[in-house]
Amino acid sequence: MPGESNIRRKSRKTSRSPEVVMPRPSKRQFYGHGIPGVDPSRLAGKLIVVEGADGSGRSTQLSRMVDWLEGSGHATVQVGLKRSNLVSEELENAKQGNILSHMTLGLFYATDFADQLENAIIPALKAGFIVLCDRYIYTLMARDMVRGMEDEWLRNLYGIALVPDAVFYLQVSPENLVQRNFSKNQALDYWESGMDLGLSRDMFDSFLKYQSLLIEQFQKLQKIYGFDIVDADQAVEKVDGLLRRKMRKVLTGHDK
Ligand SMILES: Nc1ncnc2c1ncn2[C@@H]1O[C@H](COP(=O)(O)OP(=O)(O)OP(=O)(O)O)[C@@H](O)[C@H]1O
Ligand SMILES: [Mg+2]
Repeated sequence: MPGESNIRRKSRKTSRSPEVVMPRPSKRQFYGHGIPGVDPSRLAGKLIVVEGADGSGRSTQLSRMVDWLEGSGHATVQVGLKRSNLVSEELENAKQGNILSHMTLGLFYATDFADQLENAIIPALKAGFIVLCDRYIYTLMARDMVRGMEDEWLRNLYGIALVPDAVFYLQVSPENLVQRNFSKNQALDYWESGMDLGLSRDMFDSFLKYQSLLIEQFQKLQKIYGFDIVDADQAVEKVDGLLRRKMRKVLTGHDK
Protein backbone atom coordinates (compact mmCIF):
# COMPACT_ATOMS: atom_id res chain seq x y z
CA MET A 1 0.00 0.00 0.00
CA PRO A 2 1.51 3.38 -0.97
CA GLY A 3 0.19 5.13 2.19
CA GLU A 4 1.80 2.54 4.38
CA SER A 5 5.20 2.74 2.74
CA ASN A 6 5.14 6.56 3.11
CA ILE A 7 4.66 6.24 6.79
CA ARG A 8 7.43 3.67 7.08
CA ARG A 9 9.82 5.91 5.08
CA LYS A 10 8.95 8.95 7.16
CA SER A 11 9.39 7.06 10.38
CA ARG A 12 13.03 6.36 9.53
CA LYS A 13 13.78 10.08 9.18
CA THR A 14 11.97 11.33 12.28
CA SER A 15 14.01 10.55 15.35
CA ARG A 16 11.25 11.45 17.84
CA SER A 17 8.67 9.01 16.56
CA PRO A 18 10.57 6.28 14.79
CA GLU A 19 8.12 3.53 15.56
CA VAL A 20 4.84 4.78 14.04
CA VAL A 21 3.25 2.07 12.01
CA MET A 22 -0.25 1.96 10.58
CA PRO A 23 -2.14 -1.00 12.00
CA ARG A 24 -3.60 -3.22 9.33
CA PRO A 25 -7.32 -3.92 9.69
CA SER A 26 -8.02 -7.28 11.31
CA LYS A 27 -10.50 -9.85 10.16
CA ARG A 28 -12.33 -9.80 13.44
CA GLN A 29 -14.51 -12.61 14.76
CA PHE A 30 -15.93 -14.14 17.91
CA TYR A 31 -14.90 -17.57 19.15
CA GLY A 32 -18.52 -18.70 19.27
CA HIS A 33 -21.93 -17.09 19.50
CA GLY A 34 -20.45 -13.69 20.46
CA ILE A 35 -22.44 -10.76 21.77
CA PRO A 36 -25.81 -10.14 20.12
CA GLY A 37 -26.00 -6.98 18.05
CA VAL A 38 -22.23 -6.51 17.73
CA ASP A 39 -20.84 -6.55 14.21
CA PRO A 40 -17.20 -7.64 14.58
CA SER A 41 -16.25 -6.21 11.19
CA ARG A 42 -16.80 -2.72 12.63
CA LEU A 43 -14.20 -3.17 15.37
CA ALA A 44 -11.22 -1.42 13.86
CA GLY A 45 -8.73 -1.49 16.74
CA LYS A 46 -6.33 -4.23 17.81
CA LEU A 47 -6.85 -6.69 20.61
CA ILE A 48 -3.66 -7.86 22.28
CA VAL A 49 -3.57 -10.29 25.18
CA VAL A 50 -0.73 -10.91 27.60
CA GLU A 51 -1.21 -14.16 29.50
CA GLY A 52 0.96 -15.78 32.13
CA ALA A 53 0.99 -17.01 35.70
CA ASP A 54 0.93 -14.79 38.77
CA GLY A 55 4.20 -12.89 38.91
CA SER A 56 5.25 -13.86 35.39
CA GLY A 57 5.89 -10.19 34.56
CA ARG A 58 2.67 -9.24 32.79
CA SER A 59 2.33 -5.81 34.46
CA THR A 60 6.01 -5.06 33.89
CA GLN A 61 5.76 -5.84 30.19
CA LEU A 62 2.36 -4.22 29.68
CA SER A 63 3.54 -0.96 31.17
CA ARG A 64 6.57 -0.96 28.83
CA MET A 65 4.31 -1.83 25.91
CA VAL A 66 1.97 1.07 26.72
CA ASP A 67 4.90 3.52 26.93
CA TRP A 68 6.24 2.30 23.62
CA LEU A 69 2.89 2.27 21.82
CA GLU A 70 1.72 5.63 23.15
CA GLY A 71 5.14 7.17 22.48
CA SER A 72 4.70 5.96 18.91
CA GLY A 73 1.32 7.63 18.52
CA HIS A 74 -1.04 4.73 19.22
CA ALA A 75 -3.92 5.19 21.66
CA THR A 76 -4.20 2.31 24.11
CA VAL A 77 -6.72 1.01 26.62
CA GLN A 78 -5.86 -1.52 29.32
CA VAL A 79 -8.22 -4.12 30.72
CA GLY A 80 -7.75 -7.07 33.04
CA LEU A 81 -9.57 -9.59 35.18
CA LYS A 82 -11.67 -8.41 38.12
CA ARG A 83 -11.86 -4.85 36.84
CA SER A 84 -15.53 -4.67 35.78
CA ASN A 85 -17.82 -2.07 37.29
CA LEU A 86 -20.51 -4.70 37.51
CA VAL A 87 -19.07 -7.32 39.86
CA SER A 88 -15.40 -6.68 40.67
CA GLU A 89 -16.14 -5.52 44.22
CA GLU A 90 -18.43 -8.46 44.95
CA LEU A 91 -15.90 -10.82 43.41
CA GLU A 92 -13.15 -9.44 45.64
CA ASN A 93 -15.42 -9.87 48.69
CA ALA A 94 -16.24 -13.43 47.69
CA LYS A 95 -12.53 -14.22 47.45
CA GLN A 96 -11.94 -13.06 51.01
CA GLY A 97 -13.68 -16.20 52.25
CA ASN A 98 -13.72 -19.57 50.54
CA ILE A 99 -17.49 -19.83 50.51
CA LEU A 100 -18.54 -20.13 46.87
CA SER A 101 -18.56 -23.35 44.89
CA HIS A 102 -16.03 -23.64 42.06
CA MET A 103 -18.84 -23.27 39.54
CA THR A 104 -20.25 -20.11 41.16
CA LEU A 105 -16.84 -18.47 41.44
CA GLY A 106 -16.12 -19.40 37.82
CA LEU A 107 -19.41 -17.86 36.69
CA PHE A 108 -18.63 -14.74 38.72
CA TYR A 109 -15.40 -14.36 36.75
CA ALA A 110 -17.24 -15.03 33.49
CA THR A 111 -19.70 -12.23 34.36
CA ASP A 112 -16.82 -9.88 35.12
CA PHE A 113 -15.27 -10.73 31.75
CA ALA A 114 -18.54 -10.33 29.82
CA ASP A 115 -19.14 -6.91 31.36
CA GLN A 116 -15.69 -5.69 30.39
CA LEU A 117 -15.99 -7.14 26.91
CA GLU A 118 -19.24 -5.31 26.31
CA ASN A 119 -18.46 -2.04 28.07
CA ALA A 120 -14.71 -1.58 27.69
CA ILE A 121 -13.15 -3.82 25.04
CA ILE A 122 -15.74 -3.53 22.27
CA PRO A 123 -16.26 0.26 22.56
CA ALA A 124 -12.47 0.83 22.55
CA LEU A 125 -12.00 -1.40 19.50
CA LYS A 126 -14.83 0.44 17.74
CA ALA A 127 -12.94 3.67 18.36
CA GLY A 128 -9.74 2.20 16.90
CA PHE A 129 -7.76 1.80 20.14
CA ILE A 130 -5.15 -0.84 20.80
CA VAL A 131 -6.69 -2.80 23.65
CA LEU A 132 -4.17 -4.50 25.91
CA CYS A 133 -5.58 -7.27 28.09
CA ASP A 134 -3.79 -8.34 31.25
CA ARG A 135 -5.10 -11.93 30.96
CA TYR A 136 -8.15 -13.06 29.02
CA ILE A 137 -10.47 -16.07 28.87
CA TYR A 138 -7.57 -18.57 28.83
CA THR A 139 -6.58 -18.00 32.46
CA LEU A 140 -10.23 -18.28 33.46
CA MET A 141 -10.63 -21.50 31.51
CA ALA A 142 -7.39 -23.04 32.80
CA ARG A 143 -8.34 -22.29 36.41
CA ASP A 144 -11.79 -23.81 35.90
CA MET A 145 -10.38 -26.85 34.10
CA VAL A 146 -8.05 -27.54 37.00
CA ARG A 147 -11.14 -27.43 39.22
CA GLY A 148 -12.89 -30.09 37.16
CA MET A 149 -15.13 -28.11 34.85
CA GLU A 150 -15.68 -29.56 31.41
CA ASP A 151 -13.63 -28.16 28.51
CA GLU A 152 -16.60 -28.19 26.15
CA TRP A 153 -18.86 -26.33 28.57
CA LEU A 154 -16.16 -23.70 29.11
CA ARG A 155 -15.53 -23.28 25.40
CA ASN A 156 -19.22 -22.65 24.93
CA LEU A 157 -19.39 -20.22 27.89
CA TYR A 158 -16.47 -18.21 26.52
CA GLY A 159 -17.82 -18.29 22.97
CA ILE A 160 -18.82 -14.70 23.70
CA ALA A 161 -15.16 -13.65 23.48
CA LEU A 162 -13.51 -11.94 20.53
CA VAL A 163 -10.56 -13.65 18.91
CA PRO A 164 -7.54 -11.46 19.73
CA ASP A 165 -4.96 -10.32 17.18
CA ALA A 166 -2.24 -11.82 19.35
CA VAL A 167 -1.93 -13.75 22.59
CA PHE A 168 1.51 -13.59 24.19
CA TYR A 169 1.92 -16.22 26.87
CA LEU A 170 4.77 -15.34 29.23
CA GLN A 171 6.29 -18.67 30.13
CA VAL A 172 8.24 -18.70 33.38
CA SER A 173 9.50 -21.70 35.32
CA PRO A 174 7.66 -22.38 38.62
CA GLU A 175 10.92 -21.74 40.54
CA ASN A 176 11.31 -18.28 38.99
CA LEU A 177 7.65 -17.59 39.64
CA VAL A 178 8.08 -18.26 43.34
CA GLN A 179 11.08 -15.92 43.41
CA ARG A 180 9.27 -13.14 41.57
CA ASN A 181 6.18 -13.42 43.75
CA PHE A 182 8.27 -13.28 46.90
CA SER A 183 10.28 -10.32 45.67
CA LYS A 184 7.05 -8.48 44.93
CA ASN A 185 4.70 -9.43 47.77
CA GLN A 186 6.91 -11.20 50.30
CA ALA A 187 4.20 -13.87 50.25
CA LEU A 188 2.23 -16.23 48.04
CA ASP A 189 -1.45 -15.66 47.29
CA TYR A 190 -4.02 -18.14 48.65
CA TRP A 191 -5.86 -18.50 45.31
CA GLU A 192 -2.79 -18.42 43.09
CA SER A 193 -1.39 -21.22 45.23
CA GLY A 194 -4.56 -23.24 44.64
CA MET A 195 -5.07 -23.61 48.39
CA ASP A 196 -8.81 -24.12 47.82
CA LEU A 197 -7.98 -27.42 46.08
CA GLY A 198 -6.36 -29.06 49.08
CA LEU A 199 -3.25 -30.08 47.12
CA SER A 200 -1.04 -29.56 50.16
CA ARG A 201 -1.27 -27.84 53.50
CA ASP A 202 2.04 -26.15 52.79
CA MET A 203 1.41 -23.08 50.64
CA PHE A 204 4.78 -23.21 48.92
CA ASP A 205 4.29 -26.87 47.97
CA SER A 206 0.71 -26.16 46.89
CA PHE A 207 1.86 -23.22 44.73
CA LEU A 208 4.30 -25.41 42.81
CA LYS A 209 1.73 -28.19 42.34
CA TYR A 210 -1.03 -25.81 41.34
CA GLN A 211 1.14 -23.88 38.86
CA SER A 212 2.18 -27.19 37.25
CA LEU A 213 -1.48 -28.18 36.88
CA LEU A 214 -2.24 -24.82 35.29
CA ILE A 215 0.69 -25.18 32.89
CA GLU A 216 -0.74 -28.55 31.80
CA GLN A 217 -4.09 -26.93 31.05
CA PHE A 218 -2.43 -24.01 29.26
CA GLN A 219 -0.59 -26.48 27.05
CA LYS A 220 -3.94 -28.02 26.12
CA LEU A 221 -5.43 -24.59 25.43
CA GLN A 222 -2.35 -23.58 23.45
CA LYS A 223 -3.06 -26.37 20.97
CA ILE A 224 -6.60 -25.12 20.48
CA TYR A 225 -6.09 -21.36 20.58
CA GLY A 226 -2.50 -21.11 19.34
CA PHE A 227 -0.84 -18.71 21.79
CA ASP A 228 2.49 -17.21 21.02
CA ILE A 229 4.74 -18.58 23.76
CA VAL A 230 7.35 -16.09 24.96
CA ASP A 231 10.35 -17.22 26.98
CA ALA A 232 9.88 -14.87 29.94
CA ASP A 233 12.55 -16.44 32.17
CA GLN A 234 14.89 -13.91 30.54
CA ALA A 235 15.69 -10.39 31.75
CA VAL A 236 12.96 -7.73 31.54
CA GLU A 237 14.66 -5.89 28.63
CA LYS A 238 15.05 -9.07 26.60
CA VAL A 239 11.39 -10.01 27.00
CA ASP A 240 10.46 -6.43 26.13
CA GLY A 241 12.55 -6.59 22.95
CA LEU A 242 10.95 -9.88 21.94
CA LEU A 243 7.45 -8.52 22.51
CA ARG A 244 8.19 -5.36 20.50
CA ARG A 245 9.29 -7.39 17.52
CA LYS A 246 6.19 -9.51 17.75
CA MET A 247 3.94 -6.46 18.18
CA ARG A 248 5.42 -4.74 15.13
CA LYS A 249 4.57 -7.81 13.14
CA VAL A 250 1.01 -7.81 14.46
CA LEU A 251 0.54 -4.14 13.64
CA THR A 252 2.01 -4.19 10.17
CA GLY A 253 1.88 -7.77 9.07
CA HIS A 254 5.64 -7.45 8.34
CA ASP A 255 8.60 -9.06 10.09
CA LYS A 256 10.66 -5.86 10.62
N1 LIG B 1 11.92 -10.71 33.35
C1 LIG B 1 11.99 -10.55 34.68
N2 LIG B 1 13.07 -10.95 35.37
C2 LIG B 1 13.14 -10.79 36.71
N3 LIG B 1 12.16 -10.24 37.47
C3 LIG B 1 11.06 -9.81 36.84
C4 LIG B 1 10.91 -9.95 35.42
N4 LIG B 1 9.70 -9.43 35.08
C5 LIG B 1 9.14 -9.01 36.21
N5 LIG B 1 9.95 -9.22 37.28
C6 LIG B 1 9.68 -8.92 38.69
O1 LIG B 1 8.78 -9.93 39.15
C7 LIG B 1 7.77 -9.37 39.98
C8 LIG B 1 6.41 -9.64 39.34
O2 LIG B 1 6.30 -8.88 38.14
P1 LIG B 1 4.92 -8.27 37.67
O3 LIG B 1 4.24 -7.56 38.76
O4 LIG B 1 5.17 -7.53 36.41
O5 LIG B 1 4.16 -9.63 37.32
P2 LIG B 1 2.60 -9.89 37.10
O6 LIG B 1 2.55 -11.05 36.17
O7 LIG B 1 1.92 -8.65 36.67
O8 LIG B 1 2.14 -10.31 38.55
P3 LIG B 1 0.64 -10.36 39.14
O9 LIG B 1 0.11 -11.68 38.71
O10 LIG B 1 0.86 -10.29 40.62
O11 LIG B 1 -0.14 -9.20 38.60
C9 LIG B 1 8.10 -7.88 40.12
O12 LIG B 1 8.83 -7.70 41.30
C10 LIG B 1 8.94 -7.59 38.89
O13 LIG B 1 9.84 -6.54 39.11
MG1 LIG C 1 0.22 -7.64 37.45
